[in-house]
Amino acid sequence: MSDFDPEWELATRAIRVGHERSAENEHAEPIFMTSSFVFASAAEAAARFSGEQPGNIYARFTNPTVRTFEERLAAMEGGEACVATASGMSAILSTCMGLLQQGDHLVSSRSVFGSTVVLFDKYLPRFGIRTSYVDLDDLAAWEAAILPETKMLFVETPSNPLTALGDIRALAELAHAQDCLLVVDNCFCTPALQRPLELGADIVVHSATKYLDGQGRALGGAVVGNAKLVGEEVYGVLRTAGPSMSPFNAWVFLKGLETLELRMRAHSAAAQQLAEWLEQQPAVAHVHYPGLASHPQHDLAMQQQKAPGGIVAFEVKGGRESAWQVIDSTRMLSITANLGDTKTTITHPATTTHGRLSEEQRLAAGITQGLIRVAVGLEAVGDIQKDLSRGLDGI
Ligand SMILES: Cc1ncc(COP(=O)(O)O)c(C=O)c1O
Repeated sequence: MSDFDPEWELATRAIRVGHERSAENEHAEPIFMTSSFVFASAAEAAARFSGEQPGNIYARFTNPTVRTFEERLAAMEGGEACVATASGMSAILSTCMGLLQQGDHLVSSRSVFGSTVVLFDKYLPRFGIRTSYVDLDDLAAWEAAILPETKMLFVETPSNPLTALGDIRALAELAHAQDCLLVVDNCFCTPALQRPLELGADIVVHSATKYLDGQGRALGGAVVGNAKLVGEEVYGVLRTAGPSMSPFNAWVFLKGLETLELRMRAHSAAAQQLAEWLEQQPAVAHVHYPGLASHPQHDLAMQQQKAPGGIVAFEVKGGRESAWQVIDSTRMLSITANLGDTKTTITHPATTTHGRLSEEQRLAAGITQGLIRVAVGLEAVGDIQKDLSRGLDGI
């Protein structure tokens, strides 16, 4: 880890950690767009390869721009080590490959991202790793699902798309009492709003594609945790299997991190305003947003998170037909499955992000045909409301 003042607050860490100026004395972080590095001599090459001498060898292993991103995000999450990955999914895959083995069992929240479920159900079993699912907020169910061979609990909080919460502190205590690791997907909150490691989690995974970038430009991911689990075990998978982050993408994410706290505060304020407005709309049957008093875990959200976040899900009356009508009537909102962008996005989870699940799995996760997810961007809230009104007013 690079040196930084441990007293620095998040906003300062997001801007200042990790950049060691080159001989050019550049102010902004440079992009080291190079796949390999040159050694001064055969002896130096040998020393680097044997690990006797630290330093760059090859960009699948390390790259200075990627390292700057890793050190900055580690400092923001409060972790000893971070490895950057090519996508959020490869962060989750690398975590599983690095920390689990044949015969191990995983307990996951039912309400996790669709591709995470496919990874757990279709691909991990090929390597002898089984997964059981429980309701995110049912602590007794988590405890009951833990078997002697359980090694990991996996949670996404708030969940996508319903913004249900898992109690990270309670889950960490449960995991540690049973010799398991707690992995938290912190994609929706980011370290600007929630720091799972401080609440006892062992590993944080990210899709950097979302808020860390913040402007919908690049695909990436990250795993943060201690030096042994992440710096050695997960890094070993990256170095060998190669789902490494591109230096260009790392630079894009570095620029994203610099404004992360500001953006997350603004996303949350806009989402709160939109959620309160949606609750007043006659065509809306229910609004899921942790900042609303009507959210069943509102109190936990206020303790665990600095702000409720930018994702609002709501159910329209009339099922899929009405949901599609609202989506198709928008002129400004972007119909896209991505989230965490300055541009507000709207999606129908049942037929997109969660489309590969069976209807039974979807319903168990609470994803109905009338559900719409809005990732509230940074446009004027009044304009977002007007755009949604076009469809809502016709229901
Ligand atoms: C909560 C969550 N985790 C992980 C991912 C996967 O990230 P990526 O698309 O960068 O692979 C997503 C993607 O949408 C997500 O929403």
